[in-house]
Amino acid sequence: MNHKVAFSFADGKTLFFPVGTHEILLDAALRNGIKIPLDCREGVCGTCQGRCESGDYSQDYVDEEALSSLDLQQRKMLSCQTRVKSDATFYFDFDSSLCNAPGPVQVKGTVSAVEKVSASTAILRVQLDQALDFLPGQYARLSVPGTDSWRSYSFANLPGNHLQFLVRLLPDGVMSNYLRERCQVGDELLMEAPLGAFYLRHVTQPLVLVAGGTGLSALLGMLDELAAKGCNQPVHLYYGVRGAEDLCEAARIRAYASKIADFRYTEVLSAPSDDWPGKRGYLTEHFDLAELRGRSADMYLCGPPPMVESVQQWLANQALDGVQLYYEKFTQSNI
Ligand code: FES
Repeated sequence: MNHKVAFSFADGKTLFFPVGTHEILLDAALRNGIKIPLDCREGVCGTCQGRCESGDYSQDYVDEEALSSLDLQQRKMLSCQTRVKSDATFYFDFDSSLCNAPGPVQVKGTVSAVEKVSASTAILRVQLDQALDFLPGQYARLSVPGTDSWRSYSFANLPGNHLQFLVRLLPDGVMSNYLRERCQVGDELLMEAPLGAFYLRHVTQPLVLVAGGTGLSALLGMLDELAAKGCNQPVHLYYGVRGAEDLCEAARIRAYASKIADFRYTEVLSAPSDDWPGKRGYLTEHFDLAELRGRSADMYLCGPPPMVESVQQWLANQALDGVQLYYEKFTQSNI
């Protein structure tokens, strides 16, 4: 029996390959052309180390010179001594180029639907001939049909043949104009994926998910994964947009409450109309400090750079040392 393993690297590349149940991880990686740096192959030098982000594994021999007991607690592992017992994800703190690893793949897809889901957002659905692997939170570069332009969008659902992307509709953007004016079901587009080092890690502590605008896309992919696989940790989604007309996917977000045991949702508008009855201002003004102070949590943050920077600053000001932050700043293309 094979398990599906993902290796992700510091440069944001992720590679997937099969590993036999009793096979040494390093052997499977080499067989698939991923030349992880190594030296002793005996669990002594520590050269082949990475960290397991999700899944079950065992190690044959680990010398204390290679990994300390704290390293082991943090799920650091030696590729030359590791055998996986389930599908698993490993992170290596160096660039994939060091392993001569092949890059992301280019695949062809066809547009299966475009749906305007708020005043400023569309969902683009793309059908592929073959399932594409990625980690929830990663993104793809999409070619804009009829142009030389490419734009990057986070996957808004789980890996497979049917993909979704939230697209911010700009007054005069290359992808926005295509979706509004020319897009037809069946249009062919090219996709380069998977990309990005922003992805859901093994869940061992409460999750705080923070989305600005179409940054929601990556977090919907993560929430779909949590709903599908089950999650025994509290999950709090914060979603910030300008006005009520910009909110989208309300029914889908509400439905997570019936699939994730402890799910909270807070939406905040930065420029609402006078009759908006809900929360207004910036997301950081509405973070639940009691949920974070003196506790451990993983925070996943996806949004435009000013928003990401303001949340980083807020965390530093509050001295919330237990919060592990993962973020994706998407540069909003204005064309
Ligand atoms: S190559 Fe030396 S510990 Fe794996």
